[in-house]
Amino acid sequence: MTEAELYTLYKGVYVPSSLHPAQSLKYYEEFTFRPDDILIVTYPKSGTTWTQEIVPLVMSGGDPASVETLPNWDRVPWLEEHHACNLNLEERPSPRMFATHFQHNMMPASFFEVKPKVIYVMRNPKDVFTSSFHYHSIASFLVQPGPQSDFLHKFLDGKVLFGTWFDHVKGWLNAEDKERIMYISYEEMIMDLKDSVTRIAQFLEKPLDAEVIEKIANRCVFKNMKKNNKSNYSLVPREFMDQTKSEFLRKGIAGDWKNLLTVAETEYFDAVYKDKMKDVKYKFVWD
Ligand code: A3P
Repeated sequence: MTEAELYTLYKGVYVPSSLHPAQSLKYYEEFTFRPDDILIVTYPKSGTTWTQEIVPLVMSGGDPASVETLPNWDRVPWLEEHHACNLNLEERPSPRMFATHFQHNMMPASFFEVKPKVIYVMRNPKDVFTSSFHYHSIASFLVQPGPQSDFLHKFLDGKVLFGTWFDHVKGWLNAEDKERIMYISYEEMIMDLKDSVTRIAQFLEKPLDAEVIEKIANRCVFKNMKKNNKSNYSLVPREFMDQTKSEFLRKGIAGDWKNLLTVAETEYFDAVYKDKMKDVKYKFVWD
């Protein structure tokens, strides 16, 4: 099926129509944040699910009850998904935890008034592309990726979910109220998960003992987290996500793009990256 059949153009970017019908986008537009809400923001395939595991564990002081009993989409729901409308989020006790793939300029009015805390997770866009390419082949609500080079052009041109990686990252990096935003990368989490959990706990003003940090990091390493059926999407019926083709928690490494992109594709990607990111001062781990 095509983009026209599966996606809606919302504020200039594609969103999958089945997950984000007009009613859910309206719900998000009118959503009222609280100052102590915690928002995990990502471009898709940048480490959303991983952070949806870490943040509840940090906030519970390492108690695994919520990650063992609640699927990640209930535990840290996406505000733009229709599922959010049914969760009675207004009744949830503080601090509430949410996720969103929205670009900064798509955020609803209440976000800018209330300024909840944001953890913005970034990932090397070549690995985002790689993860996304595999993911599009297993999800029936997404347009099949087609030939790799075609999908690469769509990805770099932003003719994919939530627009271009470049706009997403630049928009959030340029956001005001920086003290309310923590920037972290997938690669930093891969390199030193204990340190990343410590930094997340500090940002969330949740001081934790070294043993608790160790316990959380251990639960969240790829091979352990992959076993959690509340986080590995095995609860999603195969007709929506066929994990016999490629698992959602697929490889969990940095640099897998080297196994996918050709030399010519890499050169093209690098040229586009250099141009689009020329004014960005932020020092990315992968640069
Ligand atoms: P790969 O496809 O490269 O393996 P998102 O949750 O934003 O959709 O991102 C999915 C990507 O994060 C997948 O990347 C997935 O394997 C990876 N991921 C999820 N949990 C992880 C973990 N605990 N450690 C490392 N990578 C993880």
